Amino acid sequence: MILFVGATGKLGSAAVRELAQRGKKIRCLVRPGSDVSGLAATGAEIVRGDLRDQTSVKQALESIDTVISSFATNIAKERSAAALWANDYEGNLTLIRLSREAGVRKFFFVSYWGLAKFGDFEHGKIKKMVEDLLTVSGLDYTVFRVTTLATDMSELLGATLLRKGRVPLLMKPHEKIRPILLEDLAWCMADAIDNPKACRRIIEVAGEEEYDFRSFEQLFCRALGKKVRFIFVPLPLASFAASCIDFATGNRYNARGILSAFTGGSTCDISDMKSIFDVRQGSFARYLQDFFQEARNASRYNHSV
Ligand SMILES: NC(=O)c1ccc[n+]([C@@H]2O[C@H](COP(=O)([O-])OP(=O)(O)OC[C@H]3O[C@@H](n4cnc5c(N)ncnc54)[C@H](OP(=O)(O)O)[C@@H]3O)[C@@H](O)[C@H]2O)c1
Repeated sequence: MILFVGATGKLGSAAVRELAQRGKKIRCLVRPGSDVSGLAATGAEIVRGDLRDQTSVKQALESIDTVISSFATNIAKERSAAALWANDYEGNLTLIRLSREAGVRKFFFVSYWGLAKFGDFEHGKIKKMVEDLLTVSGLDYTVFRVTTLATDMSELLGATLLRKGRVPLLMKPHEKIRPILLEDLAWCMADAIDNPKACRRIIEVAGEEEYDFRSFEQLFCRALGKKVRFIFVPLPLASFAASCIDFATGNRYNARGILSAFTGGSTCDISDMKSIFDVRQGSFARYLQDFFQEARNASRYNHSV
């Protein structure tokens, strides 16, 4: 049986669906109060608990063979660096330690691509430390280092572009991005359960299509059916603003660290991923078209009722 932590998240719910379709037995450790309606159709067992409560984690780990850690603090809601360490670092530490004690065999961890670039970003530091811990834990691990989820691009950038017609970006026009579709990453995660090539590997995962930010902008124009613009914010200006925030808040948010994570593009070499997983990835361009078509249909429907 698989224990999934982070099942109510964007990636988590897609991965639980994929695992359920393959007939895997899944238990989801979900915080009290989280909405689990999206998981109902998967037949996954839901246990309520929190990684900070070791008793609930121990109970959740009973008869578990594989643990999947896909949880993360939402930085849009919780920005303080201390809260990230308390949840993401301590939570994974507890999960790895108790998994070992419970005789778990495999542990999957969802991490970031390009951790060197995230050297000063709290999330990145935490991911790297958890990775390091996992590789010496004695558990059979698979680490998925993810570039950017397609949904983050459509929902975050798309929502602002729809509203305002322009969005500020810290990336440079020539830098590149390779967003991965949720269902493709979910496919790889589910495949890794029985795929020996994925065992004891740190795998960089990204989408099939790579864009520079100018062509990415064009993609949004086409999908939205109107002219929209990325505003490329000069880095010195953004660095100055981040330094002011850090100075004023006593480094509570590590704004310069956050800034470093949103510069320099988001792409990687997917040859390892391709040699391990026989996944036929979907097109991000197609996904974006469908995403905005659905949004238009929904708003037409909402206006007519
Ligand atoms: N988004 C990206 O572009 C991106 C890029 C690279 C890597 N990643 C990684 O991919 C993974 C999934 O990301 P996502 O965007 O799908 O995340 P998400 O939608 O923000 O979901 C996060 C999940 O973590 C759960 N969670 C947080 N703290 C928890 C705790 N203490 N105990 C139990 N559950 C907890 C949340 O549960 P609640 O329902 O209780 O809030 C939610 O289910 C994360 O590890 C993230 O760091 C994401």
